[in-house]
Amino acid sequence: MPSAVWRDLAQLAKQPLNLRQEFAADPERATRYALNACGIELDYSKNLINDAIWQHLLGMAQQSELTSKRAQMFAGDKINSSEQRSVWHTALRAPLSANLTLDDADISAEISACHAQMFALVEQLNSLQYSGYTGEPITDLIWIGIGGSLLGPQMAVEALTPYNISPLQIHFAGNIDGAVVSDVVKGLDPATTLVFVASKSFGTEETKQNALAIRQWFTDNGADQAAIARHFWATSSNIKAAAEFGIESDHILPMWDWVGGRYSLWSAIGLPLCLMLGTVQFNQLLAGAHAMDQHFQQAPLAENMPVILALLGVWYINGLGCQTQALLPYSHYLRLLPSYVQQLDMESNGKGVDIAGDTLTAATAPVIWGDAGTNGQHAYHQLLHQSALAVPADFILPVKPAHDLQDHHHRLAAHCFAQTQALMQGKTLDEATNEVLAAGGTAAQAAELAPHKVSPGNKPSNTLLLPELSPFYLGALLALYEHKVFVQGVLWNINSFDQWGVELGKQLSTPIYQVLSGQKTHPFDASTERLIKLFQQ
Ligand code: F6P
Repeated sequence: MPSAVWRDLAQLAKQPLNLRQEFAADPERATRYALNACGIELDYSKNLINDAIWQHLLGMAQQSELTSKRAQMFAGDKINSSEQRSVWHTALRAPLSANLTLDDADISAEISACHAQMFALVEQLNSLQYSGYTGEPITDLIWIGIGGSLLGPQMAVEALTPYNISPLQIHFAGNIDGAVVSDVVKGLDPATTLVFVASKSFGTEETKQNALAIRQWFTDNGADQAAIARHFWATSSNIKAAAEFGIESDHILPMWDWVGGRYSLWSAIGLPLCLMLGTVQFNQLLAGAHAMDQHFQQAPLAENMPVILALLGVWYINGLGCQTQALLPYSHYLRLLPSYVQQLDMESNGKGVDIAGDTLTAATAPVIWGDAGTNGQHAYHQLLHQSALAVPADFILPVKPAHDLQDHHHRLAAHCFAQTQALMQGKTLDEATNEVLAAGGTAAQAAELAPHKVSPGNKPSNTLLLPELSPFYLGALLALYEHKVFVQGVLWNINSFDQWGVELGKQLSTPIYQVLSGQKTHPFDASTERLIKLFQQ
C-alpha cells in the first residue's frame, strides 16, 4: 500500500467516534455489521467503525492485490518469494477431485496417500492392533515437535477433548528444557509407547535433542535397535535426516515444502488429533477448513469474513495505533487457541521489510495474547476496561456446550456478552455517581468513589459464535484466522510465509552452547560474557 493510504487512515482515525451514540443512532447497526460464514456468526458491530471508515477500509482491500494474490495462493504459485515456495496448505483440505498438481507432481494424490497412511496407522493404534517390542499393545503416544509441529495438534487435541474415542494417551514434548522430556516419560513404559518425531526440517535442535533423549530412554530400558525401529515414527520433508536418525522409511510420513509449519495441522502433523478423533471426525475438521477456504475465495470482499477481520485489524494497528490484540475464547477447551494464533499471526506477519526487501513504514502484526474466559476477567480484563490502552478483542463462544451443565453455560455466555457490552458502553461519571447514591452513599462518598468506577467504554471487540465446538467448526475457525493473516500480509505487502527473524537467535545459541559445554571459547559482548560466567559459577 502506498504510504498515502496509511496517512489517510491515520487522518480518519482522528475523527471522534462514540459507539454508544452509533448504536443509538442506528437501530440496524447490529445486523448491518454482522455476517455468517460456514455456520460461524461474526458480530463486528462493536468496532470503532462507521460507514465512512468501513467504506474506506473496503476500498483499500479492493485497490490492493488481494484478489490476484488470493488466486495465486489457491493455484499453488510460489508466493513465498524469499524461499521460492508455494503456499498450499489449502490443498491439504481440498477434495481429491480437485486434482491439484505442482511442478508435474500430482499433489492431490500425494495428499490422499499421506492421509491414507495416517488413517491406517490410526486405525491400527485405536484398535490396539499395533504391538510393541514385547508384544503388548501400544497404549501411549509421545509427540515430539515444536512451533508449528506441536502447537496445532496440541491445541486441537485439547479443543476437541469431548470427541476423544482413542484408548491411547497422547503426550506432547516440545521445548529444549529437559524438564519436559523427564516429565513426559514418567509413568510410561517404552514397551507400550510409540514415538513420533514431527519436524518438517528434521533439523530443529529442540526436537532432535528431545528425540535423542527419548531414544536413550528406550535403550536404558533394554530396547535394542529393532525395538526402537518398531516404536519410532516421523513426519518430515527431510526423509534423509529422518532416516539417518534411524527411522525406517515406511515409518516416515511426508511433509512438503509447500506447507508452512504453522499451517500444517491439516497434514500428518495432525496425526495426534486424527488418533483422538478417528478418521471420520478428522475429515470433518478438513471439511470445515475447506468450507472456509471456499467462502474466502467466493464471497464478495464486503461479505468475506477473513477480509472483514483483517481490515478491522489493519484499522486498529495502522489507523488507531493499537499494538496488541486479545483473543478470548469463552471455552475451556479452546484455551490453547491464543498460543496457536500467536504463532500463526506473529511469525507470519511480524516483519520489518516488504516483499521487495524495503523497510516497512507501517506497523504490521499485533501482539496476540489471551486465555480462556472467564479466568481472564479476574486477571487482565481490568486493564481492558479502564486503562487508556485500546486493546481490540475477539470473543469466541461455542453456543452449544459439550457438557450437561446448562446453567454453567448460560453463566459463561452471560459473561462473554457482558464483557463486550461493558467494553463498548463503559460507565459514565453520572452513572457511577448515581450507582453510589442508589446504594445509599452520600454525595461526598459518591464524589470520592465515582471517578474510580468510571469505565471509558468505546473499546472495540468482535464476537464469534460457533454453533458448537465440533471438528467442522474448529476447522472453519482456524482457516478463518489463517486467511485473516494472509489478507493482512497482502495489505502490508509482506511475505507472510517465511520467518527469517527466528534464525539469528538459533545461530547465536551455538557458540554459547559450545562455551557452556566446555567445547570451545568465544568472545561475546560484555553482558553475555558476564551471564555465562554467572551461570558457570
Ligand atoms: O520457529 C521456526 C520454525 O521454523 C517454525 O516456523 C516451525 O513451525 C518450527 O520452527 C518447527 O520447525 P520444524 O517442523 O522444521 O522442526
